[in-house]
Amino acid sequence: MRKKIIAGNWKMYKNSAEAVALVEGLKKELGAPNGVEVVVCPPFVNLTEVAKVVAGTHIALGAQNLFWETEGAFTGEISGAMVKATGAEYVIIGHSERRQFFGETNATVNKRLKAALKVGLKPIVCVGENLAEREGGKTFDVVKDHITGSLVDLTKEEMKTLVIAYEPVWAIGTGKTATSAQAQEVHKFIRDLLVKMFDQTTAEATRIQYGGSVKPENAAELMSQPDIDGALVGGASLKADSFAAIIKNTK
Ligand code: PGA
Repeated sequence: MRKKIIAGNWKMYKNSAEAVALVEGLKKELGAPNGVEVVVCPPFVNLTEVAKVVAGTHIALGAQNLFWETEGAFTGEISGAMVKATGAEYVIIGHSERRQFFGETNATVNKRLKAALKVGLKPIVCVGENLAEREGGKTFDVVKDHITGSLVDLTKEEMKTLVIAYEPVWAIGTGKTATSAQAQEVHKFIRDLLVKMFDQTTAEATRIQYGGSVKPENAAELMSQPDIDGALVGGASLKADSFAAIIKNTK
């Protein structure tokens, strides 16, 4: 049985005071755990402050990226060990905004993934097609390319902590959600692919999140699909009440 995981990707929003206020608010809204794993991913500079607020709660902390080298002259970069030292447990890797604006490729995703696993961070690896690719009938090709390219040389053991986020780029921040049937179809495709790449046990144990305009109103329907194991939430994670409502609507 896969435990559902709802993660909030705060992107480049919230300074440190705002981040603390948001997570304090979330703590109040959430109350007792409901069996869903909850993760918040603030900008790097707020990880330490947010870690203090979530300590001892059931809210886990994640970063939005890391660099694959352990240390050195890499101005502006943050290593996995540095992320880990803040108290973070998760790290988002290969988000489409990083692929689109910062030159991220399957090869660099793979390097970051291995760096994360090496320091004991649990990666949330993002994959997904853009609008032209969907309209051109290329969804499955693109998703297959992202998955096979990003997970090169990973062992079954390493797959145990890894989460995949299927995020159709056309649904991110646009208000256009994939229908639950469209999402389920791709999630099933990913799970079948994992059977071929690893084995049945690994595929069945891997959690696959959906991301792209997830809101309190559509969460229950999406999360009820057999192969959807949670959500990666952007916009709706920036308010405590809407993020908590998504978590509460997840069964
Ligand atoms: P959105 O973003 O929920 O605002 O569409 C999702 C994401 O980019 O992870």
